[in-house]
Amino acid sequence: MCGIIGYLGNKEAYPILINGLKKLEYRGYDSSGIAIFYQGGYSLYKTKGKVNQLEKKISSLKLHGTTGIGHTRWATHGIPNDINAHPHVSNSQELILIHNGIIENYYAIKIILLDNGFTFKSKTDTEVLVNLIEYIKKKNKLSLEEAVRISLNEIIGAYSIAIVEKSHPERIIIAKLGSPLTLGINKKEFFIASDPIPFINYTNNVLYLKDGEMAILNKNKELDLRKIRNNHKLNPIIKELQINLKKIEKGEYKYFMLKEIYEQPKTILDTLRGRLLITDGLIYIDGFELNKDIFFNAKCITIVGCGTSWHASLIGEYILENIARIPVEVEYASEFRYKNPIVKKKDIIIVISQSGETADTIAALKLAKKKGAFVFGICNVVGSYIARNVDAGVYTHAGPEIGVASTKAFTAQIIILILLALKIGKHKSTITDDFYKKLCTELNYISDKISLTLKTDKYIKNISKIYHKVNNFIYLGRGINFPVALEGALKLKEISYIHAEGYPAAEMKHGPIALIDEKIPVVVLATKKKLYEKIIVNIQEIKARNGKIIAIVNEGDIQVSMLADHVIYVPETYDELSPLITIIPLQLLAYQIAFIRGENVDQPRNLAKSVTVE
Ligand code: F6R
Repeated sequence: MCGIIGYLGNKEAYPILINGLKKLEYRGYDSSGIAIFYQGGYSLYKTKGKVNQLEKKISSLKLHGTTGIGHTRWATHGIPNDINAHPHVSNSQELILIHNGIIENYYAIKIILLDNGFTFKSKTDTEVLVNLIEYIKKKNKLSLEEAVRISLNEIIGAYSIAIVEKSHPERIIIAKLGSPLTLGINKKEFFIASDPIPFINYTNNVLYLKDGEMAILNKNKELDLRKIRNNHKLNPIIKELQINLKKIEKGEYKYFMLKEIYEQPKTILDTLRGRLLITDGLIYIDGFELNKDIFFNAKCITIVGCGTSWHASLIGEYILENIARIPVEVEYASEFRYKNPIVKKKDIIIVISQSGETADTIAALKLAKKKGAFVFGICNVVGSYIARNVDAGVYTHAGPEIGVASTKAFTAQIIILILLALKIGKHKSTITDDFYKKLCTELNYISDKISLTLKTDKYIKNISKIYHKVNNFIYLGRGINFPVALEGALKLKEISYIHAEGYPAAEMKHGPIALIDEKIPVVVLATKKKLYEKIIVNIQEIKARNGKIIAIVNEGDIQVSMLADHVIYVPETYDELSPLITIIPLQLLAYQIAFIRGENVDQPRNLAKSVTVE
């Protein structure tokens, strides 16, 4: 993961870099650093902890210079501390480098460098890279750009880098393979960042570097873009981006996560807008229309994702199989990429990713394409790698999601999967016209039901006060609400650090029921319709062993309410749409518990928003 930033122009670099790093903290926040260059030297500061700790450390200093690079880290090689933080400096102190990614063959290179007299202060692969560049540069008497290019050709792994030579502060060299890198260009002024948000206030002219490209940036000169492999000059394709910065402010909320939970009635309308054409009874999905025959004739579909996107994929499996009657396989991207999957030419692989940058999902996408599959993407971040590299796809339009724990992106992904299933089901007549109309009408009002569900927050806060000190939680659901149980458990563990497990409710008696005692709260998704009677039996089994039941039920429920210790009432809907409602109290429960425990809800320990390493 990690976020990188750089500036080269005529303005003071420091404010641009420090403010930019704060916007990149979603990529990692265990340590950060900055280097500002002036004629003949540089100032370099780095520290363990978040960017505001770096800012505090250097607040009394006046850092002047119009060239600079900065980094916010998510540790891969070496623990988070001041020494392992970036930027890293070569042995001669001449080259200064920041890096996002992983150098897989760093150890073999390190041995060669040690044999040649190099020494290392940190445990990082990045320090190895900066010294490799120095070694190749000196040994072959090369310019920096040629040394960078040749070194990168020796590297196995992923990187986006920016490197500056102390004696040439008027130049920054950047390069990309695997990890994201964008360049903002304002005449002859350059802004480098892992995503365009840090510089969108200065320019909306953006170049997305492609894998295998490097750029030589010289102050007040034109951009020089090249291929790393053969040094061929390339024509830069610069795009104009429109981003509404208001959407990435917390407003009245203490944390982005809470804001994003509360935004869902609106984001769902944004996801549906122009797609659910209710008066005509039609569904129109831009990226789908040109390829609809591929879907209409599909024998099977594989959906690939990680984490929360994988949970959305499981919900997609239920919906597509039920409504469109197409067999669906769901795979973790990290497993799919290494299991030699059976993928035939023209098979449909749907990749789901909020960020569009997840390394494992990207690898799955590449593998599927190599095997000749038709790859369809469901992404939130516009212009992200996955969005740009699928055969076709659709944006979720949930808006920027800043809280590390995914919430509104999840419900938006489910909406897209429902729309796809309805569109295919209607065409294939695997759903009756009557039920199709009912589901479309319900979808049209689902945002109002989500608004009503959000009113449970006050009551959930009280439940959270009772249970915020427990060590374990269990989440149970059946059918389409089983993946919701998994997602509820993931939300709780990632932001409150309480151990939580999700199970299909009927699986309890095959082992997990041994965990039940009077100390363990069990969250049960017990909304009406299919399997309601069955889940009552499961609740009774837990009560018989003194477990504490927190039940999510429909308004007017009597049976479960009589058994449960705490009851959260949510509006009733069709089973196919119920995850859109039932996930809301689980998101709120995780938030409120983490908040009461005093955790940093938006930036939980050990995590980052975009997982760009495997
Ligand atoms: C959990 C969470 C992660 C992501 C996962 C995939 O709240 O956010 O589990 O869902 O890292 O990320 P994307 O969807 O960006 O590919």
